[in-house]
Amino acid sequence: MATRKCAAVVVGAGPAGVAVMGNLLERQLGSIAWIDPNFTAGRVHAKYREVPSNTKVSLFHAFATATQPFQKIVDSSRSPNAFTALSQLDQEKTCALSYAADMIHGLTDGLMKMDQVHALRGFVAAANLNEQAEWTIRVRQQGSPDLNIETTRLILCIGAHPTNVPVPVPGLNIQRLDLDLVLKPTELAQTLEDKPLTVAIVGASHSAILAILNFIQLANTTHPNLRIKWFTRHPLRYAEYKDGWILRDNTGLKGSAAEFAREQLEDDKLPVSDAGKVLTKVDCAGGRDIESAQYQKYLPECDYIVQAVGYTRDPLPQLTRNNTPLAMEFDHDTGAFHEPGPGPVISGLYGAGIAFPERVVDPHGNVEYAVGFFKFMKFLKRVVPSWVKGVQG
Ligand SMILES: Cc1cc2nc3c(=O)[nH]c(=O)nc-3n(C[C@H](O)[C@H](O)[C@H](O)COP(=O)(O)OP(=O)(O)OC[C@H]3O[C@@H](n4cnc5c(N)ncnc54)[C@H](O)[C@@H]3O)c2cc1C
Ligand SMILES: NC(=O)c1ccc[n+]([C@@H]2O[C@H](COP(=O)([O-])OP(=O)(O)OC[C@H]3O[C@@H](n4cnc5c(N)ncnc54)[C@H](OP(=O)(O)O)[C@@H]3O)[C@@H](O)[C@H]2O)c1
Repeated sequence: MATRKCAAVVVGAGPAGVAVMGNLLERQLGSIAWIDPNFTAGRVHAKYREVPSNTKVSLFHAFATATQPFQKIVDSSRSPNAFTALSQLDQEKTCALSYAADMIHGLTDGLMKMDQVHALRGFVAAANLNEQAEWTIRVRQQGSPDLNIETTRLILCIGAHPTNVPVPVPGLNIQRLDLDLVLKPTELAQTLEDKPLTVAIVGASHSAILAILNFIQLANTTHPNLRIKWFTRHPLRYAEYKDGWILRDNTGLKGSAAEFAREQLEDDKLPVSDAGKVLTKVDCAGGRDIESAQYQKYLPECDYIVQAVGYTRDPLPQLTRNNTPLAMEFDHDTGAFHEPGPGPVISGLYGAGIAFPERVVDPHGNVEYAVGFFKFMKFLKRVVPSWVKGVQG
């Protein structure tokens, strides 16, 4: 099997992988292998182009210019391009995530052309750490034989997919609708038949509210026979803009989801809102027994269920040390990994992005995980210097 040596290996080319590449290249480590099956901006392009952002345009703009290699790409791209398209939007407003996806794609194309970057279309299947603190990474390439890469730094930016939990009432004749599909209204409209249908939506965070919004738009246009039962176990929670910081910055509703929820879904608005004409709220608050009873009572009336209950990290490559499985925990403060316990740090292994986010504590002591393009960038600016210093190249 062919073997190549690199200063670092970055797994994943979503926004986090791109941000890692910009930060590593800025430090001129030497050659970097970058592996992804597609190099097309990850999930934000594949799944969320039609989703409205919950962050301001200015933060996507700030991401695109946050490192010197990115700046070079932006400056040398022929206009009009994804960066000029972002610049022309109102920087204080939100936008469709297609703009953010195109920006990431533009940066990816520029990074892939750089001399220090070895971009490999493929999938990292396994990685082994030896006694000399060197990783050997096995890459499955599309249409080519497997390749081994040796490095002292392995950075995992593997992303996450919608969490699937069992249908709360076993044995029901109910069909699951994939959250990814529900967040793509054009595809959703083509998938659902126009006949009397009731859809159960579980959850009350961003994804759930956008799912509700998309179904309501269908009910008001192409699918007038559609009805929604909304299963929620807590009140709507919004991001609150304080003096210099944001309460529930990572968990509260923002942007158009917040606006819609405030205007149409709150208990005092629902009876008179447009949403209330097609949606019934099923209050599942009050503990497990009440939640279960509500599902038993109302879920059998539904034809479909959408579970908008968060995202789960994508499967890790098979990680071993001296060819025996490696147990590890992520350190959300440094981006490194250590043995459980917490035991010793695992040499040269790092993570970022939605799969491995930074842990943040707000001035009220609330703990959250920082998920967002510019949040990844901020975290990486802080920790990448220690990743570069931490191991010998
Ligand atoms: C619906 C939704 C809307 C969001 N909206 C916003 C927003 O408005 N603003 C904002 O700032 N953030 C937003 N986020 C949060 C976050 O920015 C996105 O989730 C973002 O896509 C995460 O980027 P990522 O690079 O961590 O993961 P991903 O985009 O999932 O990319 C991971 C990449 O790694 C690749 N990969 C995985 N395993 C391997 C392997 N073994 N070998 C090789 N490649 C591999 C995958 O193919 C993929 O290309 C949103 C999140 C969601 C879920
Ligand atoms: N651009 C956008 O507008 C947009 C859209 C979607 C997502 N996002 C981003 O993507 C990330 C993930 O967001 P998300 O909204 O998908 O998920 P999330 O913020 O991780 O929240 C998951 C929600 O699911 C609930 N939940 C978990 N298990 C449940 C169960 N069994 N039954 C009922 N509810 C359950 C949780 O409620 P409890 O607290 O009760 O456990 C929580 O409110 C965030 O960073 C978000 O900003 C952005």
